[in-house]
Amino acid sequence: MPGQNGISLLSEIKKEFPAIPIIMISGRSTLAIAVKAIKEGAFDFLEKGADLDRLLITLNNAISHYNWQKERDMLINEFLDQYQMVGQSSAMRKIFNQIDFVAPTNSKVLITGETGVGKELIARAIQIKSKRSTKPFIRINCAAIPETLIESTFFGHKKGSFTGAIKDQAGKFELADGGMLFLDEIGELPLQAQAKLLNVLQDGEIETIGAVATKKVDVRIIAATNKDLKKLVSEGKFREDLFHRLNVFHIHVPPLRERAEDIPLLVDNYLKYYANEYNKQISGISARGLNLLIEYD
Ligand SMILES: Nc1ncnc2c1ncn2[C@@H]1O[C@H](COP(=O)(O)OP(=O)(O)O)[C@@H](O)[C@H]1O
Ligand SMILES: [Mg+2]
Repeated sequence: MPGQNGISLLSEIKKEFPAIPIIMISGRSTLAIAVKAIKEGAFDFLEKGADLDRLLITLNNAISHYNWQKERDMLINEFLDQYQMVGQSSAMRKIFNQIDFVAPTNSKVLITGETGVGKELIARAIQIKSKRSTKPFIRINCAAIPETLIESTFFGHKKGSFTGAIKDQAGKFELADGGMLFLDEIGELPLQAQAKLLNVLQDGEIETIGAVATKKVDVRIIAATNKDLKKLVSEGKFREDLFHRLNVFHIHVPPLRERAEDIPLLVDNYLKYYANEYNKQISGISARGLNLLIEYD
């Protein structure tokens, strides 16, 4: 090939057709060239003159790899289209069913699980599949608001109602009217704020600080926590009545170490995402790398 060697041709083809498996056959084969070819994304590397059986086996492997990759891509895209998240473990399948079941209702939902398991994604999937999908989705991180600002953040304030209230400010409940309010880290909400929240959930009316009258709002509540709320209740740190108000429909997300079947899909999903984001050629993860992730506790 004029002006080209096999390796640069390989990377040209990979750029254009990243999914096509390429088998390199070379006369001048050294280990270094073979390694380079694999690094550039070749599926396999054969020496010129390798016997027919070897070639057939390699071809068969390449084809099944390609088919498997295609099926995996379809699976990932199907999950992402529907839920913006991936997972094929029985735990995740149950969660997808729960999302489908509860999303079209107006039920409150409590999502529990360790940090990073995807609680926020689940809340958003519920929103997307709900009748409120075109309405606002407002998130409050209950762990991040200073205690003195909670009431104003939730319910808003009128200009001049306290020092520093220089103009009218709508609260998150008002912003979420007609849509959803995602109360993240609800286990961190101080008791006093819990009482105020409970009142609103009971009456569906908010009391903006400094306002003369209460206001009706129509907000669907999804709450999430990495805490054991029942334990907090027994310790007197979380109101039992509020717990029951929020815990109408419960989705628990087990940690990844208890659903290792989801790891290959997640890894593939992220490889694709970052390969695209950084314009990189990444054909996959090594079996050893994947095993390290699967065995990690
Ligand atoms: N099943 C999943 N599929 C794809 N991405 C996921 C999945 N679970 C978690 N993530 C990603 O992990 C990160 C943490 O998810 P998040 O919903 O914020 O978790 P949590 O709210 O439980 O702390 C996010 O970047 C999210 O996109
Ligand atoms: Mg979170």
